This record gives sequence, C-alpha cells and structure tokens, in this order.
Amino acid sequence: MSIAVIIPAGGSGERLGAKVPKALVQLGGRTLIEHAVANMAPIADQIIVAAPAGLEGKFQELLGSEVTVVTGGITRTESVAAGLRLVSKDMKFVLVHDAARALASTDLARRVIKELQSGADAVIPGLKVSDTIKRVNLDSFVTKTPNRAKLRIAQTPQGFTRETLVIAHKTQSEATDDAALVEELEIPIKVIFGEDRALKITTPDDLIRAERYLLGDEHREMRVGIGTDAHAFSADPSRPLALAGLEWPGEVGVDGHSDGDVAAHAICDALLSAAQAGDLGSNFGTSRPEYAGASGAKLLQETLAIVHAAGYSINNVAVQIVGNRPKIGPRRQEAIDAISEALGGAPVSISATTTDGLGFTGEGKGLSAIATALITRN
Ligand code: CTP
Ligand code: MG
Repeated sequence: MSIAVIIPAGGSGERLGAKVPKALVQLGGRTLIEHAVANMAPIADQIIVAAPAGLEGKFQELLGSEVTVVTGGITRTESVAAGLRLVSKDMKFVLVHDAARALASTDLARRVIKELQSGADAVIPGLKVSDTIKRVNLDSFVTKTPNRAKLRIAQTPQGFTRETLVIAHKTQSEATDDAALVEELEIPIKVIFGEDRALKITTPDDLIRAERYLLGDEHREMRVGIGTDAHAFSADPSRPLALAGLEWPGEVGVDGHSDGDVAAHAICDALLSAAQAGDLGSNFGTSRPEYAGASGAKLLQETLAIVHAAGYSINNVAVQIVGNRPKIGPRRQEAIDAISEALGGAPVSISATTTDGLGFTGEGKGLSAIATALITRN
C-alpha cells in the first residue's frame, strides 16, 4: 500500500544555536535531514521534505532527485501543509516525521504503518514519562499535577490515512504536532511504543545524546547467513516458472511442493540462518500444511516476521541464480523490487550465472540459487 512521508525541516534550530539551520547540522558524518530521509526511505513510496526558504536547491542537491523538496512555512504546521499539498492522490497513508528526530528507526515507521494497515486512522509513537509533570499558569504557579501514568511523550513519525491528515489540516489550526490537529476532529489516535533514539534533537546536549546512539549502532551485533536451493525443470511443459518473486511466461517451471522459487527460498534460508532461526524446512516444512504451495513472496514475508521477532533487522540480502535460462538481466530490477517489497524494503541484489555446460544446471536440467544475508541486532 502506498505510503508518503512528509519531513518538515523548515525550522531554523534557534535552540540548537548552530550556524546553519538544524536539518543541515552534521551528526556522525551526515546531516540530520540525510539521516531522517535514509531511515524513512525503505518504507516510503514518496518523500517530501519542507526546506527553509532559500535553501531548496541545497536540500535537493543533498537528497537527490527521488526526494521532492518544497519551501517550508513560517511554522511547522505550515511546513507540513506545504508538503501535504504535493502528496500524490494514490497514497493511502501519510507519515509526518520531524527532521529533528533524525535517528527514529525504519522499524518504528514500520510499526506505525502496521497499525494503520490494521485499520487505525491515526497512529503516533509515545514514550512513558518518568518525571512528574506540573501544569502551571503564566505566573509559574502550579495549577495541576496530571497523573503521570496517563501521560505520554509524543514522537514522530506520526501516521495517518491521507484523508484524515487532509481534513485535519483544513482546520487551519496551529499545533506542534499533527496528532493535535486530528485530536480536534475527535478521531481516535492510537499510541504505540516509541523509541529513545527517536528523541527530538533540540539543544546541543541532545546532539551529544544522538551521537551516542549512532556510536552504539557501530557496535551492534551483526550476523551473516547462507542459503541454497535447487529444483529440476518439470517434465510438464505447461508448468509455470516462479523465480525471484516473478512469473516467467513462456518458461518451463520446476518440480516441487511449493512454487519452486529457488531464489526466494535461498534468501529465506540465508535470513533464517543469520538469525539462528532454523531453516525453511523447520519453519514451513511438511508439519505446516498451510505453507504447501506457498509463493516465494509469502515465504519471504513470513521469514521477515521471524527475523524481526528474533530481534534483528535486515542490512541486505544478495542472491545468485544459477542456470541456463531464463535470462535474468532484462528483468533484474523487477525481480529486485519484488523481493525487496516482500522483505519490507530491504536492499536486495540479484546476479545470475551459467556454469559453462557443467553440472545439472549447465546441462539444462534445473535451476539453483545461492544467497547470503546480513542482519543486525536491534
Ligand atoms: N519545522 C518546519 N518549519 C518551521 C518550523 C519547524 O518544518 N517553520 C520543522 C523543524 O525543521 C523540525 C520540526 O519541525 O524538523 C520540529 O521543530 P523544532 O524541533 O522546533 O525545530 P526548529 O524550529 O528548527 O528549532 P527551534 O524551535 O529551536 O528554532
Ligand atoms: Mg521550533
């Protein structure tokens, strides 16, 4: 389902006090806005960034042509509204995400989207508060002590159905987040668990905290995995070929209980091996009849869920298809997109080779694939 991400980055960052607008401040070798875009890109079909007026060209150069840059407004709400006007009509959901929360993870965005896909109109990440919060009047006298257990710190990305966000912005109200506008419409807003690393970088101290998260990333445990699969071409010339998440009209399929997608299966095994979560057989084998005949894409999706549940995210997967035909090159990008989509947007590479007439693949008897995967503990 199509997802647009609007990133308001039009503020000046007065409280941070840097020489450049906050979104252009460096953190671990790249700017805050580059971090925010990189973390949202895997889940986004459209990304719109609201830049400070006059810096549109600089932002466009930094972020590349895949990102739409729009001139930000005087307030955050106006910057979001400017972005919203450019959200394509076929987007089902819109995430609004502060550039200042540069380190909010892709996983957090995925969890927001999951809740939208389960039917919520508005979803925000929130953290519990550990301090007691006081409401005060203009003279700094306490007027109320709200029950701490019922308070949450609102974060971004905040997710909405496109219609909900469009209606909310028609109220023309001003607020420091978009959920506040939706709240006025009395539309329920679901709060999911937020992330410490989604902190809003506001002061120089926040920048130091954020640096610590980045440094932590470099020391997180990484694991590689390996997987292979092979199937013989069917004697039945009408059997369709499923390979790398695609159908291949005019090509003869392979024998097997499932759709016989050797590339998808090799990747599943590589991911399961990296996560120390067994293999295809132990997860989806004959003891699980509901997976008989499952498509490669379906098994990739289920494998991704297992990898996530084991506490890892995918860095990348690579697969090499071995066989005389079909020719992979002309449809390589299509295959990469299909597999990447099934893996929640993970980076995928696909290569192919023949084996100089040697072995069962060289003799044209079947297809095989070999895959590797790299994953990192969350
Ligand atoms: N923002 C925006 N347009 C504005 C003001 C803010 O797009 N006119 C964006 C900021 O760039 C930031 C997010 O809204 O990504 C949250 O705002 P905040 O953290 O307050 O950033 P700044 O306004 O830049 O910081 P300050 O208030 O310290 O000046
Ligand atoms: Mg501000």
